[in-house]
Parts: sequence; C-alpha cells; structure tokens
Amino acid sequence: MFIFKKIADLKQFLEKQTGSVGFVPTMGALHKGHLSLIEKAKQENSLTVCSVFINPAQFNDKKDFEKYPMTLSSDIDMLSQVGTEVLFLPASDEIYPDGIGQLAGYDIGYLDTILDGKFRPGHFNGVCNVVDRLLEAVKPSRLYMGEKDFQQCLVVRRLLEIKKSTIELITCPTRREANGLAMSSRNELLSKSAREKASAIFYCLKSIRDEMAKTPFSSLQERYIRYLDSNSFETEYLLLADAETLDLLTDFAPSQKMVVLLASRLEGVRLIDNLRMN
Ligand code: PAJ
Repeated sequence: MFIFKKIADLKQFLEKQTGSVGFVPTMGALHKGHLSLIEKAKQENSLTVCSVFINPAQFNDKKDFEKYPMTLSSDIDMLSQVGTEVLFLPASDEIYPDGIGQLAGYDIGYLDTILDGKFRPGHFNGVCNVVDRLLEAVKPSRLYMGEKDFQQCLVVRRLLEIKKSTIELITCPTRREANGLAMSSRNELLSKSAREKASAIFYCLKSIRDEMAKTPFSSLQERYIRYLDSNSFETEYLLLADAETLDLLTDFAPSQKMVVLLASRLEGVRLIDNLRMN
C-alpha cells in the first residue's frame, strides 16, 4: 500500500494511473463498516484510495473532536489486509492551508435545517469543505459512502450537484454488530456494558418498522423515546422522513420510501442510526 501525506505527491502518483479510481473518505478508527466500502470500491474500480483525516471543521463540539478515537497503526494494518492500493493521510495544514477560520460556504438548503443539520450547526458545511478538497485531490470516478450516515449521503449528493461533478456516488448498507448496534468509530468510546445496551437503538428502529402497519408514528415515537430514556439514553431526535428528500413526515405513508432516523446519547457518546421502513 502506498501512503501519501502530501496532495502534490498523491496527484503525481494518480496522474500516472489508468482506469477508474474508487475513493473512500474516512476519519479512521476503522471497523468492518469502513472495510465494506473499501471492498466494494475494490470490486468496481482499477484502484482504490482511502483517506484517513479527522476533519476539525466538522466538529461543532470541541470536546467531541478532542476525544475522537485514533488508531492509526491498526487502520494501516486493516487497510493493507484488504488490499487498499493507496492511503491518503494528510495533516490538517495540507487540507486547510489557511486554517479553518474561513471555510467556504455551501448552500445545502433544507438539509442543513433538520436532524443533524439542526442539532450540529456547521457540521455539514465542514463535511462539504473536506469532501470537496479531498475530491479535488483524488479526482475519483466513484465515491463510496455509508447509509449509516444517511443525511451525510444526501448532503454529499447535493455537494456533487453544486459542483456539477460527474463523480458517481455509491451508497452502501450499514454494517452492524451481532447485537444490531451499527458499527461506528464512536462505539470505541463506550464502556463494555454500554456497548451491549446500545443495541436498544436498533431494537427501537426495528420495532417501529414491525409495528408501522397498526400504530401511528407519533405513538411509536413517544413509546420508544420513553423506552430509551428509561435505559439511560438521552435522545435528540427520533423522526420519520421521506428517504429520498428527507422531508419530515408526521405519519407513515406507505406509497413513499421512508426512513426512521435517530440520534441519542449514551454515556455522553452521540450515536446515530437509521432504518428504511420499506
Ligand atoms: P467516518 O465516520 O469515518 O465514516 C467514513 C465512511 O464510512 C462514511 O461514508 C460512513 O457512512 C461509513 N460508515 C461508517 N460506519 C459504517 C457502517 N457501520 N456501515 C457502513 N458504512 C459505515 O463519515 C465520515 O467519516 C466523515 O464525515 C467523512 C465523510 C470522512 C468526512 O470527514
């Protein structure tokens, strides 16, 4: 595996390649969810590039940034084991030579006003800044992202539209632990018992899907927020939305594609998950 820290060196290497490039941007602390994106990119492209960069611009909470898990040597091992050809590992000043004080603004409209856009002000603008700069450096044919971050996929789709980009966005299914907990770098911050308890999130999402034919969404929403409360979670949102536009819905509309999205804290760690309803 080639490791590049400088954009110029990465570009010089990629210019010499022929064939399609698949790109998987990450913030490291890699797990099998990340690797599933790499594997898909490898199947569909001549060359796969993964980036590991903890993007300071997308953390609206400084403490969250400071405690974000870092496991670089195990990340490098995992990436070489699955046959990643290129790892891009920039330092912050390589991505943000002028610092993060003056970020570019991206008009992602409605998406910035709901769910994580509402609860994490500036977060998606930070994501757009880093993804835009990474895409400029890698210039991939295809970009691989996980549905675990459902809203992020829509935001990046919007970014590609804004940039009039021809890069194909491929969204990949959420990988879960045996107990249903969506794999996430942040799970590393949970105690062993909380990691078990956190499976309650998937249990709630699945129960809502199982009960949607006979119970209005508002009753299920109330019931499962209460259930999470009684299990020491603090829930920011549990909402139903149109899976294509993320327009929030007040009740199930089986003729539409729907998704339930949730953000909840356990032991102070913010966990997000979602499940398509149909
Ligand atoms: P990170 O949280 O490291 O995730 C990198 C990619 O892996 C994202 O596309 C995410 O959706 C995907 N992913 C995470 N957990 C997954 C799981 N359990 N199953 C499948 N895919 C999963 O998302 C980011 O980093 C950053 O915001 C980034 C896009 C890199 C910009 O900084």
